[in-house]
Amino acid sequence: MNMRDKDFTAATGGGPAGAADAGERNLAPATVSPHAAAATAPALGVSVPHESARAQVAGRATYVDDIPELRGTLHAAPILSTVAHGRLRGVDARAARALPGVRAVLLAADIPGDPILATFSHDEPIFALDTVQHIGQVVGLVVADSVMAARRAARQVALDIEPLPHVLSAREAHSMQRYVLPPVTVRRGEPEAAMAGAAHRLQGSLTVGGQEHFYLEGQIAYAIPGEQDTWRIHSSTQHPGEVQHWVAHALGLENNAVTVECRRMGGGFGGKETQAGHMAVWAAIAARHCGRPVKLRLDRDDDFMVTGKRHPFEYDWEAGFDATGRLTALKLTMLANCGFSADLSGPVADRAVFHVDNAYFLSDVEIASFRCRTNTQSHTAFRGFGGPQGVIVIEAILGEIARHLGLDPLAVRERNFYGVGERDVTHYQMKVEDNILAPLVAQLAQDSRYRARREAIARWNADSPVIKRGIAITPVKFGISFTATFFNQAGALVHVYTDGSVQVNHGGTEMGQGLNTKVAQVVADELGIPFERVRATAADTSKVPNASATAASSGTDLNGRAAQYAARNVRDNLAAFVAGLDGCGAGAVRFAGGKVVTPKSERGFDEVVKAAYANRIQLWSDGFYRTPKIHYDKQTLTGRPFYYFAYGAACSEVAIDTLTGENRVLAVDILHDVGHSLNPAIDIGQVEGGFIQGMGWLTTEQLVWNAKGLLATHAPSTYKIPATGDLPPHFSVKFWHEPNREDNVGGSKAVGEPPFMLAVSVWEALRDAVASARGGGPVQLDAPATAENVLAALRQG
Ligand code: MTE
Ligand code: MOS
Repeated sequence: MNMRDKDFTAATGGGPAGAADAGERNLAPATVSPHAAAATAPALGVSVPHESARAQVAGRATYVDDIPELRGTLHAAPILSTVAHGRLRGVDARAARALPGVRAVLLAADIPGDPILATFSHDEPIFALDTVQHIGQVVGLVVADSVMAARRAARQVALDIEPLPHVLSAREAHSMQRYVLPPVTVRRGEPEAAMAGAAHRLQGSLTVGGQEHFYLEGQIAYAIPGEQDTWRIHSSTQHPGEVQHWVAHALGLENNAVTVECRRMGGGFGGKETQAGHMAVWAAIAARHCGRPVKLRLDRDDDFMVTGKRHPFEYDWEAGFDATGRLTALKLTMLANCGFSADLSGPVADRAVFHVDNAYFLSDVEIASFRCRTNTQSHTAFRGFGGPQGVIVIEAILGEIARHLGLDPLAVRERNFYGVGERDVTHYQMKVEDNILAPLVAQLAQDSRYRARREAIARWNADSPVIKRGIAITPVKFGISFTATFFNQAGALVHVYTDGSVQVNHGGTEMGQGLNTKVAQVVADELGIPFERVRATAADTSKVPNASATAASSGTDLNGRAAQYAARNVRDNLAAFVAGLDGCGAGAVRFAGGKVVTPKSERGFDEVVKAAYANRIQLWSDGFYRTPKIHYDKQTLTGRPFYYFAYGAACSEVAIDTLTGENRVLAVDILHDVGHSLNPAIDIGQVEGGFIQGMGWLTTEQLVWNAKGLLATHAPSTYKIPATGDLPPHFSVKFWHEPNREDNVGGSKAVGEPPFMLAVSVWEALRDAVASARGGGPVQLDAPATAENVLAALRQG
């Protein structure tokens, strides 16, 4: 049986001139689509497997280092500063140059274009110029025939550096007023008067560590010369457009001479938002110099030494509150350790300020944010982008208030939630319109049996002298959109080929988060065809130009919508064509289940495409989207920086060993808001992965710079990310049932970053356990809660 031929025969009857030819050709025996069986399954809201899942499991997914190397490819390795701060007096590369296979040693003087990287702040040299500013700063490159030859030779380059005093902590930098950018203060109400009049006051300090991205695929770029000084760069980057711009700037070329491509990353987590650009610039400089393709892949230790991490933060706070735990005044100083250059520190520190409220109404508040310049790697984006550093301090404060008053911390949190219709404006003057905090947290408290377990834990602890348990629920409210408003735009291309198969290309990048899968689902849904008919292709600056970084969790919101609009344009073309055939209105043409249906007929999508092509109908289109409603003032940090908020809450139970400080996460229940999930399996993966990564940040992942400024924890042997054995034995993830109240693609909400902050519940549960061991009172636990830090908190005076 061949339904599709029969349908098309019927369709050719009353069509316009031209349609008949197409119909006749289609009367020839048609091949049955291999996708016919799947043709009725909807594409959106279902857990189709990640588009690369099978290839990745089979080892057949291509990462930059897997691309077959062109003949003549050379390899570059960086020469690293061995001093945290000093005057670079000379570089002796004679020994390196004499080694076999070494082709070149390149320093700042060999840069054809601007020796300063084309970052926003223009404060970062491509190779160290006359000073070095951290151990691991790249002074130059060795280029050689093999990776190992380049790396060995790089170690043979002798640097003559006259040491200068170095600064490693944000506090020290702050005391010396060493900043990468000017401070920012956000203020509302009369915090001083409110503090003076508060029934209760508490103050404290907190230190929160940074975090290494530990993407499985390290930083890498492969630069290939083209004709007439044009360049193709394969880059493991979240922001191909910026890599293009930086490479062109460094080579002294126009952007149109550089094409950057990224099929996928083996993880980015923010670490490849800007800093992937350095590899690309270095590889391109070497390739230009040698006239050969050059690949640069950092080994893991060098990756730790060279690239920036999550910003470590320090805080001083004072809070005023009433007897019920309601905050009435807050004064907060935040010190961000930015490392040696600005990179993304401005927007990261801004987002930290925006998220100090987390879920809570701050009536009278002043937040001062300092962007401190230290002699370490330049800290950068990392999942949450400063949000986690804002959320953790308010959760610490509320936890302390609860313990001070002898109240259940959840009751104190609920007491401070944003209201609906009152107490609903943030400290940056944005109205919280989509607040679901109270019902969501109430639901989680009920499902996780929080109150009964809290009582049971208290009884259990009373009988357990060494092991103590703790439990906590913390919420999250995370603002979705780039705070730099102009980044909230995206483009896409949808190509329908004559066999009815589809390619979609968009400005976003795939880093494992499932963006390409979701975008392909959106396109399939728009065209009413099965997901399998749509293939997403590599991000490529020659296809969609000027694309924003895939970041701020907005990849699907932006690119999904752009692709939806592109697909809609093609669909509209096809609908008009079919409406002409059937003599009906274009609005009466439906696309579903691989069929194109009018009141008169039903045709296969492939047949319609073939006929439309024969009738010279455009089968491809671009699409463009910009997020509506958002605006804000960069100077005062006020306005509506976010299109909407994503919400969630987690209940975590932990145990600590009071003799050793060791700790474990025993049980986690999460209720998270992704709106209408486009792909539940992928979203659950994002929630689980984000949570566990946050748990690592707050428990085991400790970065230690020694007194000389050397990052001592620069390998997996000394830097401990969570392993499968660290998964909580009970780990449940459920979704909130409502769609996004704002008009967002498929009713969904962004999911990439918000769940990261749910791990603050683990840290609060640890503080609960410490409080229980100490018999109440304040808990001074810095993050991460390593065994040492837990012991220190247990013993603190
Ligand atoms: N998930 C995986 N598997 N790998 C990653 O690198 N990065 C996170 C998040 N989830 C990441 C991830 C970060 S930092 C962001 S901003 C978002 O994915 C970016 O992708 P999205 O906007 O498409 O969600
Ligand atoms: Mo994510 S930190 O915005 O790349």
